[in-house]
Amino acid sequence: MMKIDVLLGLQWGDEGKGKVVDFLTPQYDIIARFQGGPNAGHTIEFDNKKFVLHTIPSGVFNEGTTNVIGNGVIIDPFILRKEILTLDDGNINVRKNLLVSRKAHLILPTHRLLDAVYEEAKGKDKIGSTLKGIGPCYTDKISRNGIRVGDTDNPDFNAIYLKSKNAHLRIIKQYNPDYKSIKIDNIPFDEYEKQWHSSLSTLNELEKVNSEYYLNKKLAEGKKILAEGAQGTLLDIDFGSYPFVTSSNTTAAGVCTGLGISPKNIGNVFGIFKAYCTRVGSGPFPTELLNEDGEVLRKVGNEFGSTTGRSRRCGWLDIPALKYSIMLNGVTELMMMKSDVMNQFKDIKAATKYIYNGSETDEIPFDAKDGNLKPVYDDLKGWGVDIASANNFDDFPDDFKAYVKYIENKVGVPIKLISYGPDRSETIVR
Ligand code: GDP
Ligand code: IMO
Ligand code: MG
Repeated sequence: MMKIDVLLGLQWGDEGKGKVVDFLTPQYDIIARFQGGPNAGHTIEFDNKKFVLHTIPSGVFNEGTTNVIGNGVIIDPFILRKEILTLDDGNINVRKNLLVSRKAHLILPTHRLLDAVYEEAKGKDKIGSTLKGIGPCYTDKISRNGIRVGDTDNPDFNAIYLKSKNAHLRIIKQYNPDYKSIKIDNIPFDEYEKQWHSSLSTLNELEKVNSEYYLNKKLAEGKKILAEGAQGTLLDIDFGSYPFVTSSNTTAAGVCTGLGISPKNIGNVFGIFKAYCTRVGSGPFPTELLNEDGEVLRKVGNEFGSTTGRSRRCGWLDIPALKYSIMLNGVTELMMMKSDVMNQFKDIKAATKYIYNGSETDEIPFDAKDGNLKPVYDDLKGWGVDIASANNFDDFPDDFKAYVKYIENKVGVPIKLISYGPDRSETIVR
């Protein structure tokens, strides 16, 4: 029996998972998403082309690879259809090599309205949700009210849909009687709902599978599978900075529940992180830079959300947080992304612990919130030169290599892949 490898984010998402999954895909027979939904935005660049995927695994650009949307993922047929049409335009036909779990839950138009009214009601305490209906859809799943992909084959699907919609509307009307004025992706509700329903035909063109059987059979046949995470460990529903998190387990445990893989069949766990930190949305961010340095990271790193276009908060690398993520996921290899973004700094910093309630700690406390964790920094030398044309690790400037080794020493896990640009080719394996 083969084991499944896992690639997941160690920070607050947007680490560059899409780029690396695409880079590794030629080594795998199958790429499988295990959690999250269209709150994800995974960017892939090659041959001067750029694609952003939300629901579809990042293995679709390699012809021989099969891609699976697992049971742990939640799907908005409207967004999935848009993704498939965009790929069509780029001459990437995914209809043949994209399989969907019958057990994956559907995001309904009213889940998106619920997301909007709940978030609005939170006022200044808002999460900063992507408003894709993620929280309400996972809520229905856990409260046993959800609708799954397999239900679309039920002749009574319309009745099932209406029952759920009406239950949602009873709540939505309490928050906003004029709910029809809320636009979804800039489309009026009634029109969006129509388009949502017609998008089901695109979903139904894809092969539906019992993905737990499918994937375990493939492992038994000796096929190589990579599980692709969405979001990041610090957004995990259990271990992230609750309530400023997403609504799924973004950690390695999510692979077991989101694909039906036994823990004993998890192989390598690739943990991916940026050479610095970013976060989009609200919640604690101890190393956030609200100064010129933060501006430089945002500009040079083009730190604007792939899904919402929002500006990302930026800061120095947070080593206690990185160690926490490595612990939770059992990371076997690290991958460091966006190294080039720090090129122009003469001096850089990395947080090694926090001051919390007057004493030092290297653990993230239960009540971490904006402002109550003061990072203690190591001052490090920046490399201050362009690293954009390296062919192997030895080509990098000494101060950059020193930063890589510094991180390895601090966290005790080797950095096996270094990314120094958005293109597929701007990647070095050590
Ligand atoms: P994901 O959600 O983890 O897949 O990451 P996103 O696609 O949301 O955000 C990562 C962004 O950084 C994308 O715009 C990538 O094209 C870009 N990117 C990835 N790796 C690098 C890198 O090494 N250097 C630079 N400058 N950009 C990168
Ligand atoms: P990828 O896969 C970065 C953040 C949102 C918000 C919080 C909850 O591209 O790394 P949600 O829409 O889930 O209710 O939002 O989580 N968030 C992400 N941040 N990258 C993502 O995905 C994210 N998915 C959700 O900004 O703070
Ligand atoms: Mg992203």
